[in-house]
Amino acid sequence: MSTKLNIRVIRQFTFLLCFVWTLAIAGAFVWSYYMQKNAILDMAKAEARIAFQKDALYRKWAAKHGGVYVPVTSETPPNPNLSRIQERDIITPSGKLLTLINPAYMTRQVFEQADKEDNYVRGHITSLNPIRKENAPDSWEQNALKAFENGAKEFSNLQRSNGREYLRLMRPFYVEQPCLKCHAAQGYKLGDIRGGISVSVPMALYADVSSRGSIVRSSTLATIWFLGMGLIAFGSRKLTKSTELLYEKNALLEDEIVEREMSQKQLQEQAVLLEEEIAEREMTQERLQEQAVQLEEEVFERQKTQERLDVKANMLQEEINFRMQSEEALRKSEASLQLAQRAAKMGSWTWYIKGNQVEWSKEMFQLFGVDEASFSGDIADVISLALHPETLPNRRISR
Ligand code: HEC
Repeated sequence: MSTKLNIRVIRQFTFLLCFVWTLAIAGAFVWSYYMQKNAILDMAKAEARIAFQKDALYRKWAAKHGGVYVPVTSETPPNPNLSRIQERDIITPSGKLLTLINPAYMTRQVFEQADKEDNYVRGHITSLNPIRKENAPDSWEQNALKAFENGAKEFSNLQRSNGREYLRLMRPFYVEQPCLKCHAAQGYKLGDIRGGISVSVPMALYADVSSRGSIVRSSTLATIWFLGMGLIAFGSRKLTKSTELLYEKNALLEDEIVEREMSQKQLQEQAVLLEEEIAEREMTQERLQEQAVQLEEEVFERQKTQERLDVKANMLQEEINFRMQSEEALRKSEASLQLAQRAAKMGSWTWYIKGNQVEWSKEMFQLFGVDEASFSGDIADVISLALHPETLPNRRISR
């Protein structure tokens, strides 16, 4: 792998890591957003329950008293729905006119006041079978009341109305003993569901909490995100640098390896050359040894020849000795022959028939008075000498 490729891989990995990190932080953001939303919803629900409990308690109090008397005003006229109730309107000893306020009337008036305020928790008393037709349920309340008929104890969710978001919560009212005073006529029995109160908590109440939470959440997560990105960048840079360094070192090492391989090759070549030289020298050595053996053999043979020659020389010497002895003996016998011839005044001759030559002994020259130096030895001359002895002094010739 090349350095560039590796660094590209590191870069890709860094991008991937950044992407994953951003994704994780975004996930954390979304998760915390929903967590906060749920927490706020829980808070709104708790508030709605408290509001409901308060309403229910005040209503209970009023019901316990069979309703309460208040002065008649234009805003609080006598309730026509209570016309059947005795002493609906009474006059105080001082002549003041009082009228009976049933619990529903009381809560309705209180709720109407809340409706006029901006961010108040609202309420609405209602029933599927309302005495007062204005108390009829809206569609959301209808659903809730039907759910209560089926055994539900509470009904709540977020709802938009007039562009504003509300947490709506509703609980049922059951018919209890005090209720029968006025509702028995409608055919209700104890334990029946008479209706209920729905409470609406404006979510705008939590806008501050929500935005504050959002700011804290966003800034925290942004800080964590930046830190993470910084760490990734730092790590990536370090990794890149160390990779580059590693590759530089690697390249140096590779160069060294190549150099070493080259010198190794050279050494091997030299070794081969040396081996060849050794082989040649060994061959030369062998040849020299062979030559030495041959030389030894030759020396040996020459020694043998020498010995043979020595033997022959000895033999020759002996022969020479022998011949010298025979020559000596011959000379002696010749001398004694010469002496004998001189004494006897005799000579001897030898005729070599082949060459027709005659050899005379010394005495012959004396006897014939021929100069030895002028003697040709030719047989014809000799014969003429012998046939004409008159030419010669008186001498006897022996043959
Ligand atoms: C003094 C009489 C009186 C008593 C006691 C009384 N009510 Fe009512 N109630 C009324 C009248 C009258 C209405 C009609 C609406 C109005 O006046 O606003 C009504 C309305 C209601 C409504 C609203 C729906 C409708 O019919 O318009 C509910 C719910 C209700 N009453 C529940 C109860 C319960 C539960 C009790 C017992 C705890 C109770 N009331 C006790 C007189 C009474």
